[in-house]
Amino acid sequence: MKTFPADFLWGGSMAANQVEGAWNHDGKGVSTSDLQFKGLHGGVTPRSAGDSCIKDTAIDFYHQYPQDIKLFAEMGFKVLRTSIAWTRIYPQGDEAEPNEAGLAFYDQLFDEMAKYNIQPLITLSHYEMPYGLVEKYNGWGSRNTIAHFEKYARTVFSRYKDKVKYWLTFNEINMAIHSPFTGVGLSGEPSKQEIYQAIHHQLVASALAVKACHEIIPDAKIGNMLLGALRYPMTCQPKDVLESLQKNREWLFFGDVQVRGTYPAWMGRYFRENNIELQISDDDLTALSHTVDFVSFSYYMSGCATFEPEKYLTSRGNIIRLIPNPNLKASEWGWQIDPEGLRILLNDLWDRYQKPLFIVENGLGARDVVESDGTINDSYRIDYLRQHLLQVREAIADGVELLGYTSWGPIDLVSAGTAQMEKRYGFIHVDRDDQGQGSLVRRRKNSFWWYQDIIRSNGAAL
Ligand code: BG6
Repeated sequence: MKTFPADFLWGGSMAANQVEGAWNHDGKGVSTSDLQFKGLHGGVTPRSAGDSCIKDTAIDFYHQYPQDIKLFAEMGFKVLRTSIAWTRIYPQGDEAEPNEAGLAFYDQLFDEMAKYNIQPLITLSHYEMPYGLVEKYNGWGSRNTIAHFEKYARTVFSRYKDKVKYWLTFNEINMAIHSPFTGVGLSGEPSKQEIYQAIHHQLVASALAVKACHEIIPDAKIGNMLLGALRYPMTCQPKDVLESLQKNREWLFFGDVQVRGTYPAWMGRYFRENNIELQISDDDLTALSHTVDFVSFSYYMSGCATFEPEKYLTSRGNIIRLIPNPNLKASEWGWQIDPEGLRILLNDLWDRYQKPLFIVENGLGARDVVESDGTINDSYRIDYLRQHLLQVREAIADGVELLGYTSWGPIDLVSAGTAQMEKRYGFIHVDRDDQGQGSLVRRRKNSFWWYQDIIRSNGAAL
C-alpha cells in the first residue's frame, strides 16, 4: 500500500501572536491581535495603558526559542510552521524602512532551526495586521493596504531568501466572513459588501505575494491556507445536499480564486443576490493570475448543513458555529471529532485542485493534568492524532499528493478563540495558567515520545 513518502514533512505549527509574547519589544508595533486579548468571541477592546493580556507574554518564545527548537528537534521535526509578526517588521504598516531589530529576530530564529535541519514554513499573516493600517486605512477595506502588504512580503522574501523555502500567505483566509476584524481588520459591524471588497483586496495581495515570492526565491514554494470547514448534508434530502454544497462553497471560494486565478462563476450569483458589487480593476485580474504552488489547510472538525436549521441546535466551534453531526463525539470545547472527515477532505481538495496539499493544523485542545511525579498522560491526544493520521495514510493510499503534516500547537500556547492557556494542544507542556501564573517551565508529555516514534518510523509506528 502506498504510504508516507520518504521526504514527508513531519512537524508542528504555531503563530507569532500565540507564542512569542514580547508584544512591544524591540520596536514592535501594535497589531490587531494585540487588541483581541479577550479572545475572538470577547470582541475587540482597544487597549489603554495598564491593560494586560496573557498574549502579551504568551509562552515567551521570543526569548526562549532556542530551548523550544531543541525540543522540536528531539522529536525529529522536519518542519516548523510559524508566522512572522508583520508589526515587528513594519510597526505601523506604512513606514518607509523596515525595523531592523524585528528582521534580526527572525534571522536568529531561522538560523536556530537550520542547526537541526528543521525547515521553516512561514505564514506572512496569521490573524494579525498592523493596527496602524486599521486606523489609517480601515484595514483591508482600503486598496492602499495591498501595497503595504506587498512591500512587507518583498522585504521578508528578500531578507530570508536563503533560509525559508516554504511560505503561506494568509492564515485561514476564509475566516474573514465569520470574523472580519481578525481576517481583514474591519471594525464594527461591516456589511457583506464591505467584507467582500476587503476580501477581494486581500486575495489580490495574496496573489501579488505569490508573484513576488516566485521572482525573489525561484526555488521556494508558496501556498494558501484555508480553514477546512467540511460540511455534510444533515440528511439525504436533496435540499440538504444542496445546502451542504453552498456551505462548502463559502470557504472553497477562497481556494478557487487562489488556485485557479479567477472568481468562480457561481459567486456571481451570490454577489447579485446579496447586492454586492465589487470594484475589480484590470490590474487586479492580472494579479490574481499568480496562483499558489500548493494548498494548505487546517482541519479540526466537521459539521452538517441543512435547509431547516431551526430544527437543530448549533454547537460551539472555534469561530464558526456548526450544526453537530449526531454520529460524532465532541471535544471538551464542543469541537466534533471526525478523523474520516480528514480523508474525505484530502480527497475532495485533491480532486478539485490537483495541487500538492499540506495539512498545516490539526490537533486536540484539552485540559492536561501534571501528575505528582511530573508526568502528563495525554492518551486522549495520542488517540486523536493517531486516528487522524491513520486517515491521512488512507488518503495517501487513495492517491492524494501530500507534502506534510504539522499538528497545531506542538508546544502549549495561547488559544486564538478563547485566549486561554488551559486549552492545550502541545506535546510539550508549558507551566502557565489562564491567569498568567506559572514558571513557564517546559515538560515533555507522553505524546512527545509517541510523536517522536511516529516521525522516526515515518508513520510506520501508527
Ligand atoms: C485555527 C487557528 O483556527 O485554530 C489557530 O489558525 C488556532 O490560530 C487554532 O489557535 C485552534 O483554535 P483555538 O481557538 O483552540 O486556539
